[in-house]
Amino acid sequence: MGIQTTILQVSAAIGLYILYLITTSIRKRFENARFARQHGCLPPSKAPVDWTFNISRPFVIAKIRKQHKFMPFTQAAFQRNGNTFATSVAGKRLIMTCEPENFKTILATSFKDFDLGKLRHDNWAEVLGNGIFTVDGAEWMHSRAMLRPQFEKSQIMDLDDLEKHTQNLLSRLSSGDGEVINLHEYFLNFTLDFSTGLLFGESVNSQLGHDTSAFAKDLDYAQRVISFRVSLENFWWVYRPKAFTQAVKNVHRFVDQSVQLAVDKAQQGNKEEKEGKYVFLEALARETRDPIVLRDQMMNVLVAGRDTTAGFLSWIFYCLARNPRVWDILRQEILNDFGREKPTYQQLKDARYLKWVLNEVLRLYPLVPSNFRYANKNTTLPLGGGPDGLSPIFIEKGERCVYSVYAAHRRKDIYGEDADIFRPERWGEGKARGWDFLPFNGGPRICIGQQLALTVASYAVVRLVQNFERIGNADMNNEELGDLTLTFMPYPGTLVRLYRDAQASRSSD
Ligand code: HEM
Ligand SMILES: *[C@@H]1O[C@H](CO)[C@@H](O)[C@H](O)[C@H]1NC(C)=O
Ligand SMILES: *[C@@H]1O[C@H](CO)[C@@H](O)[C@H](O)[C@H]1NC(C)=O
Ligand SMILES: *[C@@H]1O[C@H](CO)[C@@H](O)[C@H](O)[C@H]1NC(C)=O
Repeated sequence: MGIQTTILQVSAAIGLYILYLITTSIRKRFENARFARQHGCLPPSKAPVDWTFNISRPFVIAKIRKQHKFMPFTQAAFQRNGNTFATSVAGKRLIMTCEPENFKTILATSFKDFDLGKLRHDNWAEVLGNGIFTVDGAEWMHSRAMLRPQFEKSQIMDLDDLEKHTQNLLSRLSSGDGEVINLHEYFLNFTLDFSTGLLFGESVNSQLGHDTSAFAKDLDYAQRVISFRVSLENFWWVYRPKAFTQAVKNVHRFVDQSVQLAVDKAQQGNKEEKEGKYVFLEALARETRDPIVLRDQMMNVLVAGRDTTAGFLSWIFYCLARNPRVWDILRQEILNDFGREKPTYQQLKDARYLKWVLNEVLRLYPLVPSNFRYANKNTTLPLGGGPDGLSPIFIEKGERCVYSVYAAHRRKDIYGEDADIFRPERWGEGKARGWDFLPFNGGPRICIGQQLALTVASYAVVRLVQNFERIGNADMNNEELGDLTLTFMPYPGTLVRLYRDAQASRSSD
């Protein structure tokens, strides 16, 4: 009797609970539908394949990634399904868009409705802690405010350091005339040297063969693990090899040493900036002495700027190696403007064809080709709904919106029939670009290092182009590749031969 009542009570409770779930779900649907109607929303088109129940799918994707063809693959998905469509990962709806109006809404107009999300934070935080690159909301605003002045000041740094590291790069490159080299490896060392010098005041000088390769190895490995874990979605935490924990420890120890020195210096009370070299960390240590905050922010800035700038340089030479016509025009401009001299800031800014080349590379090979945000409340995107895709769409709280800058940059209705072609001259044809050209993101979270990145890249390009007469493509495969996944995979696309300019070597000997 007692047992029977208990069973009865339990089943009643379960029944009520299920009823509760059903009614809330129905109510939610109803409310969402009403909300959508009020905002004129229509459903987006759907990609036919459900990613959940297709066992082969993750393996297919992994293979495509390995071949550096993930971006062309997603571009094709947009061509099939429209500029905004819904798909699903692990049973959850996901919105994909390459619509500039939607970029603007996610990143600016409705900035407060979207977050980087807990997944990105938790995965990255093991390496980056709580820094500008990983946090949202008020915490992010605080980080941004703390770092902004340092970036403004770093823009007026003199170019001596940059020249020094560029010369080291040149001597590395010049050792073999016309030999096949993988440029990307050289650029990774170059940007590591420059970044550590600017940020910490002390460069690891990998290009001089200093025994700092441990730091670079540990940092690259840690990033490789993080990047792999992104593909595990919610289960990112299952992969945490011992070597990873050790690598992170090593990297942090390295950064902590510099932090300690900077804090000591700041405590010695030199409130004013001393003359001489600008050091990012020392400036930051005048804002806060908290060693963990300093470590986290330094890690964030280092990781955000180093691989991206190296990748940018790699894509520039990838394109130049395949377009001798552009190489010749660029070289002519550079020799006319600068001769064999060091460029100044103003000269770099005024070099017109150089600017076009850089823009064209960023258009076809944006370094952050695809990105995402999570809605932190029910909201809408202005385009993608209905059969013509011109109505708004409803975005439920918690849904992920993936925005593909790569695909937008190659839309023929925006850039013309030759959108897939590398043609720098298009930047001189008077079309002002807005949200349809977004290599550095936009809105409040726009890349804070944009000016710095453009300066470093233009500077290195000028110095290299001055020194080499010709560049040859040595990539046997020579297929159109879509994404240089940073340091993570051997990349065939930047195999080149560089031929020294006899005149340049004579003047520098
Ligand atoms: C060609 C080189 C670069 C490209 C293409 C690039 C691109 C980007 C993009 C797309 C974002 C937005 C990421 C997001 O919000 O999800 C970003 C953010 C950021 N970038 Fe860059 N970046 C470059 C170089 C640099 C450099 C050199 C630095 C610093 C030394 C830097 C520091 C940052 C930081 C700190 C953020 C986070 C800003 C925030 O969330 O408020 N970047 N960058
Ligand atoms: C908004 O989102 C919440 C949480 O998912 C949900 O319960 C609610 O019904 C949604 N709809 C509206 C119109 O608020
Ligand atoms: C699963 O994905 C593969 C690769 O994208 C595709 O060829 C295949 O048709 C899909 N199968 C189903 C049942 O959707
Ligand atoms: C990059 O630096 C490391 C450490 O000094 C060195 O071992 C490696 O050869 C360098 N790579 C290139 C391509 O110069």
